[in-house]
Amino acid sequence: MRAIARAQPNIALIKYWGKRDLSRNLPAVGSISITLSTLYTEMSVAFDASGSADELSVNGSADAAMLPRLSRCLDRVAGTPRAAARIESRSNFPIAAGLASSASAFAAATVAAAAALGIDRSRAELANLAGQASGSAARSLYGGFVELANAGDHVTVSPLLAAADWPQSVVVAITSSGPKPVGSGEAMEISRKTSPFYGRWVEQQPHDLEIARDAIREHDFDKLATIAEHNCLKMHSVMWASRPPVVYWNAATLECMHAIRELRAGGVQVFFTIDAGPQVKAICPVAEEDSVRAMLTEVPGVTQVIVSRLGEGASVVGRE
Ligand code: DP6
Repeated sequence: MRAIARAQPNIALIKYWGKRDLSRNLPAVGSISITLSTLYTEMSVAFDASGSADELSVNGSADAAMLPRLSRCLDRVAGTPRAAARIESRSNFPIAAGLASSASAFAAATVAAAAALGIDRSRAELANLAGQASGSAARSLYGGFVELANAGDHVTVSPLLAAADWPQSVVVAITSSGPKPVGSGEAMEISRKTSPFYGRWVEQQPHDLEIARDAIREHDFDKLATIAEHNCLKMHSVMWASRPPVVYWNAATLECMHAIRELRAGGVQVFFTIDAGPQVKAICPVAEEDSVRAMLTEVPGVTQVIVSRLGEGASVVGRE
C-alpha cells in the first residue's frame, strides 16, 4: 500500500487570486498555466493500519507545519476514517518561495494516495481533489498549456495545448530563498475583503482568459506576452492595494522585470510573470533560452537561475 507519484509545478500566465468558496477551496476566477518539466516534487504515500498518526518528512526532515493540510488532502482521497499514512516529500527546487511548491506537492500527494489505495479515479476527479487542497495544484494534473474553469460546485481542468506543440522555456530568477511573509491562501482573503480593486479583477478575468486562450491557439507569442504581463501586474496591484498591503517583491524582482522588458524592446521574445513570492519567471521560445538566462544571471540580487521547459502532468512513478 505504498505509491510514489511525481508532479511538476505549474506557472500561471492568467492568475488565480481569490476564492469564491472557502470550504471547498473554489477559486473566484479561472486561470491558465504552463506545467514545467525539470522541477518536480516526488511524494511517497504509504498507508499503514497499525500506525497511530500521519507522519510527514519534507526533504528528509519532519515537517509538522505542512502535515495537517496534507492529512486533510489524504482524507479527501481515502475517505475517513482511514489508516495512518507515512508521507515522504522531496522537491528538487526551493520550497515555499513562490515557486508553486504547493501545486506540485498536493498534485503528487493526491495521485500517490489514490494509487496506494488502488482507487481508480479519473484525472478530472484527481484534479478536483488536488484543487481542494490547493487551487493551483489542480492544474498540475495536466501537462503543457492548461486551463482551469469554474463549473458550479467544482472546477474543470483541461489541456489547451500539448507541451510539444509550442515549446517554451521558463527561466526562473531566484531573488530570495526564504519563506514568504504571508501564505497565498491567507493573502487572497485579505485581498477579497479589503482591496478596492478586487471586484474589477474578478470582473475582467474572463476577458483576459479569452485573449490568452486565443494567443495560445494561434501560437501568437506577443499577444500572450502582453496579456500575461498585464494580468500579473493587475494581480499584484490588487495585493498592493489590500489592507494590510501584500507585497511579495524585493528590489531584485523589479530589476528582473526591467531587464526582461528591455530585452523584449530589443527584439527578444520574452515576458515575465511573478506569483506569491519574489521570484521572477521569464517565459521565452526555446531559441531565446540562453540569452535570457545569461541576462538574468547578471541582474544584481539574483542568486540562482533555474531553467525548465514545458512538461507533462502528474503521474505514478512507483508502487509496492
Ligand atoms: C499567485 O494555489 O497556492 O500562484 O488554493 O490557497 O492553496 P491555495 O492557493 P495557491 O495560489 C496560487 C496563487 C498564484 C497564482 C496562480 O498560481 O494561479
